[in-house]
Order: sequence, then structure tokens, then C-alpha cells
Amino acid sequence: MKSALVTGGAGFIGSHLVDRLLSEGWRVTVVDNFDPFYDPGSKRRNIAPHLEYSNYTLVEADIRDMETLRQRLSGEYDVIVHLAAKAGVRPSIRDPIGYQEVNVRGTQNLLELAREWGVKQFVFASSSSVYGVNPNVPWREDDCVLMPISPYAATKVAGELLGHVYSYLYGIRFIALRLFTVYGLRQRPDLAIHKFARKMLKGEPIPIYGDGSTRRDYTYIDDIIQGVRAAMECNSISYEVINLGNNRTVSLLEMVRALEEVLDIKAQLDFQPAQPGDVVQTWADVTKAERLLKYRPKVGFKDGLALFVQWLIDHVRFNTA
Ligand SMILES: NC(=O)c1ccc[n+]([C@@H]2O[C@H](COP(=O)([O-])OP(=O)(O)OC[C@H]3O[C@@H](n4cnc5c(N)ncnc54)[C@H](O)[C@@H]3O)[C@@H](O)[C@H]2O)c1
Repeated sequence: MKSALVTGGAGFIGSHLVDRLLSEGWRVTVVDNFDPFYDPGSKRRNIAPHLEYSNYTLVEADIRDMETLRQRLSGEYDVIVHLAAKAGVRPSIRDPIGYQEVNVRGTQNLLELAREWGVKQFVFASSSSVYGVNPNVPWREDDCVLMPISPYAATKVAGELLGHVYSYLYGIRFIALRLFTVYGLRQRPDLAIHKFARKMLKGEPIPIYGDGSTRRDYTYIDDIIQGVRAAMECNSISYEVINLGNNRTVSLLEMVRALEEVLDIKAQLDFQPAQPGDVVQTWADVTKAERLLKYRPKVGFKDGLALFVQWLIDHVRFNTA
């Protein structure tokens, strides 16, 4: 039985990955501290089905706490998938030190443990935000990422750089996956699609930062998981940075129109000034992912949106949310 350590395995992307690994018969250990950035109760719900599996272990711990990690983790892993992080661009401007501690120091802790334990494969969740305001779209992995515009983005660049050090010095195969705005069932509630859909269902106005022309390359969770799984198996490389996107961009107003269609609700738009740290557009070139991981995103935006909205309606009690 293959064994994986998944940090952040109670969160949105992590819980989907754990679903997949358990269904494939992996031994899975999750480290998560149920950070209160958003309702920890929803993370408890994410992991509830996992607790039924005897090959699943939950370690409630903080990735900043090296001693606890050393004491409570066996170290016997074929691969570490490091997803735990303080996520989100705007909150990182309010708490840059907190982001640095979790995303940089926490990542280095995991890399140190990988070295101590002799783990040979390390997959790291990086972000499209590392590209900053690069106007040359679609973005390619060899574009410059030395000009991030938010503390969050800078911590993700730092994670990629640390990964290179450990790959070079200790032969750990390190793959940084630059994820482009992930959406789908259990999506983080701070992300626009989830936030807007809830507000529309409650009849509340939705905040549009800027004029609505900002564009995002929205990527459905199942496609992301396909890419993460392939990265876990990719042993022909020593260090790679790979975009996982959908290779299509959708403007903020187009996204709202699509939500209106799926929800059959007219949105009330509350235009607000553009937010510092937000990039104008994201757009992934996925040629490298296709070549190295056989990655091919399959879920179209409207189909993915319909799946998300169905989940939201089925699973969320709006009076308590
Ligand atoms: N969702 C996206 O669109 C997106 C895009 C780019 C990159 N990413 C990255 O993917 C990863 C997963 O994102 P997500 O959207 O699933 O976020 P999430 O917040 O749902 O999941 C992150 C998990 O990490 C845990 N965590 C946070 N701090 C921790 C700490 N100090 N110790 C242990 N656990 C901790 C949280 O409790 C949470 O369960 C993150 O690294 C994020 O930066 C996400």
C-alpha cells in the first residue's frame, strides 16, 4: 500500500485529494490545524467520510510546530503533498507576517522533515499569483516571477525556491504546481464564485471590485486533482514548476452572468474600488502540464459552475452560514 502525507488535507483541495487517494487504496496521513480563516466546521464536514477508513490518520497539528510534527508523524511516506497554507491574496496584506510564518517557515519545516525521513517525492501547491502583473498571456512557467504584488504571492515564490534547494542538495523530486483559481464542490467560501453564489441566494448585493473586467482562469477541482495525482507519480524529473489551469479566461462580469444563469437569479452589483494585490488577469499555458503530466482539463466553466451550485444548494444551510 502506498503512503502519502497530505498537509492541509481537511481543506477544499486537500479533502478532494484525500477522497481520491482513499478510493485508490492509499494509506493517507493528514496534517491540518483547522485554521479558523474560514469555518473549521466545514473542514470537519470535509473529513467526516475519511474518518471511516482504517488507512486514514488525522494529525491535528500546526506545520509551524516542528517538534510536534516530528513526534506525531511516522515519516514513512512515499510522497508528501504540501497543501497547507494561509491562502488568499487580500488577507495576506493584512497579515503578512502570519502568511510568512505558515507559508514559508511551514514549507521549510516540511522540506526538512522530507530530508530527515528520506522522502523522495514532494508536491507543493504554488499559485498563479506568482506571475504578478505579467501582461504576456497566457503565462508560461519560464516567465519571470520575481515581481509578485502581494505577500501571499511572495510566500509562494519562496516555497518554490526552497523546493529547488532541497531538490538540488538532497535529491528530493520537487514539483511546484501553480494552481489557477480552483472552484467546485466545497470551494473555499472566501473565493468569489462561492461568496457571490451565497449572497445571490440570500438576495444580497455582490461586491464587484473594479469595473468587472478582471479575468481569471477558473479551473475545476476534478481537473486539479487529476494534475496533482499525476505529479505524485512523476518520477522522471528532479525539479519542475508546472501550471495547472484551464487555459480559458473568464471576466468577473462574465462569471456573474454565468452564475445568474445557473442560479436563475438576477445579481445586484455593488461596484467598489479595485483591491490592492489583485492581478488584472490570470491565464495559464498548460502545454508543460500536458507534456509532463498528460494533464488535460475536461470540465467547461458552465458545467463546473452548475455542479458547484447544486452542491451549495444541497449542503449549505443559509440561515447559519
Ligand atoms: N483554491 C485555489 O484557488 C488555490 C489557488 C492557488 C493555490 N492554492 C493553494 O492550494 C492549497 C490549498 O488551498 P485550498 O483552497 O484548499 O485552501 P484551504 O484553506 O481550504 O486549505 C488549506 C488547509 O490548510 C490548513 N492550514 C492552514 N494553516 C495551517 C497550519 N499552520 N498548519 C496546518 N494546517 C494548516 C487549513 O486548516 C486548511 O484546511 C494552498 O496552499 C493554497 O495556497 C489554492
